[in-house]
Amino acid sequence: MAQPALIPSPWESSQEDHPAHAELLAGLAAAEAVIPPKYFYDPLGSKLFEAICALPEYYPTRTEAAIFAAHQQAIAAAVGQGCTLIDLGAGNCAKAAALFEALQPRQYVPVDISTDFLHQSVAGLQKRFPQLPMLPLAMDFSATLELPESVDAQGRLFFYPGSSLGNFDPGQALAFLRRLRAALPPQGGDGAILIGLDLVKDARVLEAAYDDAIGVTAAFNLNVLNHVNALTGADFNARDWRHVAFYNARQQRIEMHLEARRDLIVRWPGARRTFHQGERIHTEYSHKFSEQDILGLLEQAGFGRCRMWFDERRWFAVCHAQAR
Ligand code: AVI
Repeated sequence: MAQPALIPSPWESSQEDHPAHAELLAGLAAAEAVIPPKYFYDPLGSKLFEAICALPEYYPTRTEAAIFAAHQQAIAAAVGQGCTLIDLGAGNCAKAAALFEALQPRQYVPVDISTDFLHQSVAGLQKRFPQLPMLPLAMDFSATLELPESVDAQGRLFFYPGSSLGNFDPGQALAFLRRLRAALPPQGGDGAILIGLDLVKDARVLEAAYDDAIGVTAAFNLNVLNHVNALTGADFNARDWRHVAFYNARQQRIEMHLEARRDLIVRWPGARRTFHQGERIHTEYSHKFSEQDILGLLEQAGFGRCRMWFDERRWFAVCHAQAR
């Protein structure tokens, strides 16, 4: 594909003024424009995601919760009591909190990129569970995972529910799982992962879940443009863009994009770009898995003794695997 028309705009500050957003600006300037999905989660985006989880079409959250409820005892037996529960992408911490009673963790470490939301959530939770030591970590764990020494090294359980792993490319997903494995003792036997993954199913079910009737997912997708504006000084107008979501069966993934409703120019520090009507910015992949995919990924990442639990329709899987 031809490079987009990127024109330097001298009336604005240069890209070097915003080094933290270099990745974002590079994505906007790419031939096939992309905004990484982690930028969905500004305060409004986090609330919109909570609303998505309550939608009738968005089955993953309630299906996963039903699996945890139905198999709580078996899951607790596999995990063992007194783990260091490291909740990756904790959000409102509700999923982990629902397991506190069964798992009796020794320490709870919620990790999330959305600092304010995380601290608000933990403040409320600490009142409900005053005895449980909590150590919130505000960080982007998608690229690196450096846990401070205050995170108990014994009995670490990485909790990664909600099929968030599906938002990585397959190669990135494997690299991510390997980083988790590397944060556990090298000899194996101590440390594990408890992960929720969405399974391959009928495309109509999948597409409805990512393009709901009342437009909450559309708002979630479009809100990323407001967040990008706030971070970079770009001048996206969300009204110029349309939410697009479809299932790509060959790649086993939902794809979300934003599509320009008309020819338009967007400016951001150091540049401007023309988007033609119908041109898309890619915002998210949500990969779906088979049982074989899950076992293969965990095995390659250095986890074994995998146990899986499913709902009755086999739409979703919860998996516990130990460090080998
Ligand atoms: C966070 N993640 C697992 C969600 C998903 O299903 O891929 C994000 C989401 N995007 C649109 N709806 C939900």
